[in-house]
Amino acid sequence: MDDSLRSIRKNEHIQLALDTYQATGTDFDKVQLIHQSIPSINKNQIDLSVKLSHFTFKHPVYINAMTGGSERAALINKQLAQIAKACQIPMAVGSTHSALKDPNAEYSFTVVREENPDGIIFSNVGADIGYKNAQKSIDLLQADALQIHVNAPQELIMPEGDTEFEHWLTNIKEIKEHISVPVIIKEVGFGMSAETIQKVKNIGIQYVDVSGRGGTNFADIENQRRPLKDMAFLNMWGQSTVQSLIEAKLLATDIHVLASGGVKNPLDAIKCLVLGAEAVGLSGYVLKQLDEFGLEHTIDNMKQFIEQMYIIANLLNASKISDLKAIDYVFSPDLQSYVDQRTKS
Ligand code: FNR
Repeated sequence: MDDSLRSIRKNEHIQLALDTYQATGTDFDKVQLIHQSIPSINKNQIDLSVKLSHFTFKHPVYINAMTGGSERAALINKQLAQIAKACQIPMAVGSTHSALKDPNAEYSFTVVREENPDGIIFSNVGADIGYKNAQKSIDLLQADALQIHVNAPQELIMPEGDTEFEHWLTNIKEIKEHISVPVIIKEVGFGMSAETIQKVKNIGIQYVDVSGRGGTNFADIENQRRPLKDMAFLNMWGQSTVQSLIEAKLLATDIHVLASGGVKNPLDAIKCLVLGAEAVGLSGYVLKQLDEFGLEHTIDNMKQFIEQMYIIANLLNASKISDLKAIDYVFSPDLQSYVDQRTKS
């Protein structure tokens, strides 16, 4: 694809993600955490840091993949890196394919490392990229991990999408075997099934980000970019983030599960941790804050977001992430029905 077209597409994604952002109504509302009246810990005794196989997050939150490859994207990435640094949280960049094809696009990614030299940074590529380019994508940012996005619905709805999927799994395996950092297999808002998680586990992947339905909706975004806008019937495609975490739980396999997709407040984030995620990614929420209120406000807001996760942990009498996993909850009848039907299958 032409570089200028790619850059236009990046800007369209940013604008459409902002325009279609909705602050309410996700499956998180269908999960009720059980309140206990007599906590036995104080807030200053809580430590929600999370130790994964390859790195430790000071807080169980990260800014998830969004952008790169245009001037607007460069400014956004610079500001996201400043937020990540100020809040001491990891950050992923958006797909680096543009920089792998056009050196002029590199700055929109390298700025992230420039702004945050010691931060945990994830690079991002698609599942069709060769392993040498995957390593280049890592080197560009001195990345600590590589997210490989799996976005089949997006590619199929996108007018100019790349719809050759047959080698994705073998290619992911090849990338994993040749690169210098861990791989995170990441959805883009359509969620994951137990079968998908098992499939990537079988080829040696240690991390998934289930990124489920409920927030940024790439079926809707790509449909808006179609001349006839004729595929809105797929707008509810995929598993929600809560359903995806249920899928991971049903599988009960030994893999690091990260959650993202529709997380819009600290309670949603805590619910992800209760349902088994080890950390929680935010994209649309941060982008919206940044666009509406600017950098300083977004830094304050993200610090508050994290602080409020600690408040909820205190309410739940959880002094660490593993305590959260033992918290009791109830599902709404339709969510419980999802569990029952998926347990039988
Ligand atoms: C994304 N997302 C994304 N993911 C990815 O792996 N590579 C990418 O290049 C992009 N690009 C992108 C652009 C924009 C503008 C947004 C908002 C998002 C998907 C993102 O990482 C996440 O999976 C979904 O957005 C769902 O999370 P939220 O937005 O509901 O928190």
